[in-house]
Amino acid sequence: MKHSVHKQESAVHRNDKRFRLLITAGPTQEPLDPVRFISNYSTGTLGYLLARQAQKIGHEVALISGPVNLPLPEGVKFIPVKTAEEMYRETRKLFLKSDCLIMTAAVCDFCPATPFRQKIKKRKSLGLKLVQTRDILCEMGKIKGKRVIVGFALETGNLIKNAREKIKGKNMDLIIANKVSRKEVPFGKNSLKPLLMFKDGTIQKMPVYSKSRLARIILRKIEMIR
Ligand code: CTP
Repeated sequence: MKHSVHKQESAVHRNDKRFRLLITAGPTQEPLDPVRFISNYSTGTLGYLLARQAQKIGHEVALISGPVNLPLPEGVKFIPVKTAEEMYRETRKLFLKSDCLIMTAAVCDFCPATPFRQKIKKRKSLGLKLVQTRDILCEMGKIKGKRVIVGFALETGNLIKNAREKIKGKNMDLIIANKVSRKEVPFGKNSLKPLLMFKDGTIQKMPVYSKSRLARIILRKIEMIR
């Protein structure tokens, strides 16, 4: 497999392989009480760009999305969700009917153990018990078959080591890893400087790319893997 970015990118519109693509995007929201939730800063930008571009080049696209502020991509089957558990259920339903899963969603790793039924009233301090949510990618990795799985990683350190552990642990074909620091958060930005790691251990360090260009590159890589 060759991973020359520019060659592959320019070939996107000449491709005539069509496949069923399942994309998850945006944050999940985990309810704390009737008026509050735990979430993250994900804006869904890359997932929606991927959905739009994939649909334009002829792939059949389903988009499972947490709450975001973006226009719906045309011609895409859209499934809105809120919690990690809902996202898991919808992904599980569509995964086996898909050829590829791209998991751009920023799934909350924790949710309140028991959401309060009543609004939590003001008090001096409040202890919260959070429990782990289901790891959607990991679950899909177990039933992968010949499907292509693409995941993302956000890391504050040890980018390569952690990406390697995640790609193996979740049975992915490709992982797009991004560094995060208190100053550098990829959420809401128009560009990224990611590292691409493939199942066979090949690593490609990318320059700063717009999310739109990165979406094109990711789609091309998937077409090459399939
Ligand atoms: N992911 C998932 N289900 C979760 C958490 C994450 O499917 N409950 C997916 C994300 O969509 C992403 C990949 O797993 O594609 C890696 O997410 P990341 O947050 O970087 O890593 P985690 O596996 O959550 O591990 P950690 O937060 O400990 O780094």
